[in-house]
Amino acid sequence: MSDRIRIENLNLSLGGKVILSGLDAVFTDGINAVCGPNGSGKTSLLRVIKGLAKASSGTIVIDNADLSRKAGARLAAVGLVFQDADVQTVGESVEKDIEFGPANLGWSRGQIREATEGTLALLGMEAYRKTRPQVLSGGEKRILAIAGVLAMRPSIILMDEPFANLDFDSVQKVLSAIIKLKEQGICVVIVSHETDKFLALADNVLVMDKGRSVFCGKAAYSLDALRSHGVHVADMPLEKMTWVRESAG
Ligand SMILES: Nc1ncnc2c1ncn2[C@@H]1O[C@H](COP(=O)(O)OP(=O)(O)OP(=O)(O)O)[C@@H](O)[C@H]1O
Ligand SMILES: [Mg+2]
Repeated sequence: MSDRIRIENLNLSLGGKVILSGLDAVFTDGINAVCGPNGSGKTSLLRVIKGLAKASSGTIVIDNADLSRKAGARLAAVGLVFQDADVQTVGESVEKDIEFGPANLGWSRGQIREATEGTLALLGMEAYRKTRPQVLSGGEKRILAIAGVLAMRPSIILMDEPFANLDFDSVQKVLSAIIKLKEQGICVVIVSHETDKFLALADNVLVMDKGRSVFCGKAAYSLDALRSHGVHVADMPLEKMTWVRESAG
């Protein structure tokens, strides 16, 4: 598996407070998990990678290009699904909402339609196309937020707590979309402490604590680091830690 994102000695301070400190991490092709206690800096890390927050120092290499000083290039290459789905819905209907990103990128009408239809199908949202985003349930809004990012076809997608407040069926939908993204060669980075829902699918795990990287490597070796840094990991074999139904695989 090849490296997609390489981070070296990343430092971020906000309002005089150290948020990320000497952080090193590597995310590869496939599914990468980022876990750590509340306030450990997970969302801040995603914001820096995406180019929404400016690190005071450090290196960010994406697909072998040093983009440390090129936040604009990172903004284009990287899709970010925010922790709060409400902030991400914009259109007057689900369909228009999904079209918004591709339209902003200046794509042709045909390309916009193709991306929108493909995304609606991928997430099983066709029945909602004419629905106003405001009336969607919390779970449906979250899936719409994911759709809006996917439609722009980023080669790297960062998801901040994608399973929060989702019921069993919605978690399954998100997980199956994540698996399809991996199959399409997209590098997926998932921030979540809900290890029982997805850790079995993760190729790599980054464990963070107090703005530092305390483990970065294969999921199989991550369990001790997770447990000793306040992330709940159920007492079960790693391969059982997923809500993907047996029959779905
Ligand atoms: N703009 C800011 N100014 C000052 N401190 C900030 C700012 N943004 C974040 N922080 C602090 O940085 C730390 C890390 O926050 P962050 O949101 O990255 O954590 P997290 O790991 O995503 O937490 P959670 O699991 O609760 O979502 C927190 O202590 C937070 O209060
Ligand atoms: Mg967070």
